[in-house]
Amino acid sequence: MISPLPPLLLIGCGKMGGAMLAGWLELGLPPETVVVEPSPAAVSPFAGRVRHVTSIAAIPEAFAPAAIILATKPQEAPKALPSLASFVGHGAVFLSIMAGCNVANMNAMLGGNATIIRAMPNTPAAIRLGFTVAYPGPDVTEDQRRLCHRLISAIGEAAWVDQESLIDPITAVSGGGPAYVFLLAEVMEKAAISQGVPPELARRMARATVAGSGALLAASTEEASSLRRNVTSPGGTTERALAVLMREEAWPALMEEAIEAATARSRELAG
Ligand SMILES: NC(=O)c1ccc[n+]([C@@H]2O[C@H](COP(=O)([O-])OP(=O)(O)OC[C@H]3O[C@@H](n4cnc5c(N)ncnc54)[C@H](OP(=O)(O)O)[C@@H]3O)[C@@H](O)[C@H]2O)c1
Repeated sequence: MISPLPPLLLIGCGKMGGAMLAGWLELGLPPETVVVEPSPAAVSPFAGRVRHVTSIAAIPEAFAPAAIILATKPQEAPKALPSLASFVGHGAVFLSIMAGCNVANMNAMLGGNATIIRAMPNTPAAIRLGFTVAYPGPDVTEDQRRLCHRLISAIGEAAWVDQESLIDPITAVSGGGPAYVFLLAEVMEKAAISQGVPPELARRMARATVAGSGALLAASTEEASSLRRNVTSPGGTTERALAVLMREEAWPALMEEAIEAATARSRELAG
């Protein structure tokens, strides 16, 4: 039998924090879990299943969580983290999903000696199809790592890296990746309309094509390139389109440039 989760402290119950909380509740989260969230509306779907407070100052004094999950916006970190320093040194691990906040900076804001795992999820987490990559900072124990693995696996697939610098390209590819895929649906819809397809049909077709292709990729053991070739008959229509998209200066180069720009921005944010 899978053991229930220990009590947790969630700081920030927005889109990502809420998605994680929903996943943890399915795993069996003890009701003494505390959620710090200024907006009552954000916590309303979880009413009665966790304890809700609107500020860090209102966390019950004797509360001893096994993990403290940092899911506020990164710009809140300098205000929020120093007020969590009293939790350092009691065996709790900090699991941060805040983009651009590195372990050393967070440790300094927590007053030093904190054990921190830095993770980067993505928005398909909302339907448990996220992809989260985690990096364990210094002194994280095997138990803490195992617990955090369970926490991030509750929202989809989880992977680990042992170099913090990899979090920057990971942020660029997997953190931001859903936006590029949604952009694909947008531009396909526009292009269909340009070719005379009625707008509502263009919208349905673009959404279903992106979603269906994603589901086929997920269900298949074949490489993406092989699934692509399966659609491409020699001399056919798809081949003609791919000849445009795969030009040296087109998608391959643009994607390289986009990921490089996002990686550089992630490094800049981390300071
Ligand atoms: N969304 C993504 O694709 C994505 C991907 C990877 C990582 N992340 C990271 O995940 C974190 C959360 O992102 P999100 O998209 O879930 O943002 P979000 O929906 O804005 O959630 C943040 C929540 O934290 C609350 N909050 C603000 N200050 C707080 C404080 N001092 N104590 C407790 N809660 C506080 C906010 O409340 P108010 O709205 O009332 O201020 C809000 O409900 C960010 O750090 C982001 O970098 C997001």
